[in-house]
Amino acid sequence: MLEQIKSLQKEIASTLPANAGELEAFRLRFLSRKGLIPTLFDNLKLLAPAEKKDIGRPLNELKQLAESRLKEWTEALGAVKDNTQAPVDLTLPVIPDAIGTMHPLNLTRYRIIEIFERLGFNVADGPEIEDDWHNFSALNFPENHPAREMQDTFFVSRNPDVLLRTHTSNVQIRLMEKQRPPIRAIMPGRVYRNEAISARAHCFFHQVEGLYVDTNVSFADLKQTLYHFAKEMFGSETKIRLRPSFFPFTEPSAEIDISCFICHGKGCNICKQTGWVEIAGSGMVHPNVLRHVGIDPEAFTGFAFGMGIERVTMLRYGIDDLRLFSENDVRFLKQFKPVL
Ligand code: DAH
Repeated sequence: MLEQIKSLQKEIASTLPANAGELEAFRLRFLSRKGLIPTLFDNLKLLAPAEKKDIGRPLNELKQLAESRLKEWTEALGAVKDNTQAPVDLTLPVIPDAIGTMHPLNLTRYRIIEIFERLGFNVADGPEIEDDWHNFSALNFPENHPAREMQDTFFVSRNPDVLLRTHTSNVQIRLMEKQRPPIRAIMPGRVYRNEAISARAHCFFHQVEGLYVDTNVSFADLKQTLYHFAKEMFGSETKIRLRPSFFPFTEPSAEIDISCFICHGKGCNICKQTGWVEIAGSGMVHPNVLRHVGIDPEAFTGFAFGMGIERVTMLRYGIDDLRLFSENDVRFLKQFKPVL
C-alpha cells in the first residue's frame, strides 16, 4: 500500500489540468466516493493496528495534497473563465454617481439671502433654545400674551423660562445687543410651535427675519424694500399690498400680501379667490424694543419683517402639503435642482 501511495503522490504532483473537464476527471479519479483515495481508506480499516499506524499518516497526507490541488486548480480555472467571459472595456462611459439635490427650503433661503445681500443686508443667526427675554420680553410681549402659554410654546424649563424660540425675532434682540446702528440684517432659521401636524401646520418650520435700524428709516423704506423683494422673488409684475396688523414689537404693523402670481388677480385656489397671498408680517420697530437694547428711539428708527420660508417655497413651487418638507421622501426631493 505504501508503494501505491507514493506513486499516486507522484502522479498528483505532475498533473496539471488544462480545463474544467480534466479537473473533473482528476476529482473523480482521486477523491470521489469510489475514487482511489477513499478506496485506500476503506482498505486501511482492514489492516492490523500496527500497520494502520504506518500507512494512515502518508495516506492522510495524500488526501490533503489531492484536496489542496483540487482547490487551487478550481480557483485558477474560475479566474481564467471570468476573464474571458467579461472582458473589461475601458472605453465604455462611466456610470454616473447619483447626484443629490438641494432641499427646496434651502433653495428658497439662498434666493432670499441673495436678494437682500444685494441691498446691503448681512446674514445673522441666533440660538434655537432661547430665554424668555430674547423671545418675548425684550420684544415687548405683555406678561399675559397667549404665545407664552404652554400650549403654544415648547418650554425646556419654567422659572427661569427656557424655551424653543417661536420666531426668528429673537435674533433682532441678540443682534442689537451687540451691534450699534446702522444695522441691516436678515436672519434665517428654524422655529418651533406647539401645533398639531397637518398639511398647513407643523411643530417646526423656518422663518427669515429682516431688520434695518438707522437714522431716518421710514415706513416708505419698509414698503419699497419689500416691494423690491417681491418683484425679485416672484417676478417683475408682482404687486404688494399692506394690511394693518398688530405685533407687540412693531408699531405700526402691517401684513404684506403679494398679488397672486398664479392667476394674476383673477382668483384661484392658491389665493383663495382673493387675488392676494400673504407672505410676511412687518412694521416699524417699537420704541420699547429699541430701549430694551439700549438704542435711543429718538435718534434711531427701524423696520422689521418676518417671513415664513415654507410659505414662500410652497408658493414658488406649487406645493400643497407642508409635511413633504420634513418627510425625506426621495421622490419629492429629487425633483429640485441638483447640488453642483
Ligand atoms: N415674529 C412674527 C411671527 O412669528 C413675524 C413678524 C412680524 C416678524 C412682524 C417681524 C415683524 O419682524 O416686524 O409671527
